[in-house]
Amino acid sequence: MNQKLEDIKQNVIECTECDLCKTRTNSVPGKGNFHSEVIFVGEAPGRNEDKSGEPFIGIAGKKLSEALEGAGITREEVYITNIVKCRPPNNRVPTAIERETCQDYLKEEISIIKPKIICILGNTAFNTLLGGSEITKFRGKLVQKNKQMYFLTVHPAATIYNQELIKVLKKDIVKLFDLVEELKNKKKVKIDIEYTT
Ligand code: URA
Repeated sequence: MNQKLEDIKQNVIECTECDLCKTRTNSVPGKGNFHSEVIFVGEAPGRNEDKSGEPFIGIAGKKLSEALEGAGITREEVYITNIVKCRPPNNRVPTAIERETCQDYLKEEISIIKPKIICILGNTAFNTLLGGSEITKFRGKLVQKNKQMYFLTVHPAATIYNQELIKVLKKDIVKLFDLVEELKNKKKVKIDIEYTT
């Protein structure tokens, strides 16, 4: 592991910056390969993640693994994290204050890993990182903002009871890694949405 990421992990484990620390069992730092070309960003830990301290290990995590495997990628090859690192009670959507309080951890993870593409999983990450909403309208698209590329797709939890959406997630993840391959080969990729700030 990278020492700076280890330091962030430790800070996340000890964090008491917001009230979620009072109800969590464990905080859940990001996990994975710090050489990854892609960082996957979900919403917040759920029950299983809170118990174990690892991101995306419950049913939603299995869906994510399934989609990665469909693209020939293992979880160990990528880096997976969340907007908020502690479980909100009853899995409610994290508040604006909780997201803001937690944002520096993700900023640091991104600045150390320097991913070619940040893969946004679902509406909370879409809203927090790009101010967007209605991910199902924008999924499958490549976005550029401040020289960083983002790829949009649905949250794996949304695919649990929806066979159509798991197909969509799988298709998107294949496209994501095709884009990564093109970027690695220094090819020009088509940006679908450009943010000008
Ligand atoms: N849902 C998320 O958004 N993140 C997790 O880690 C697990 C479920």
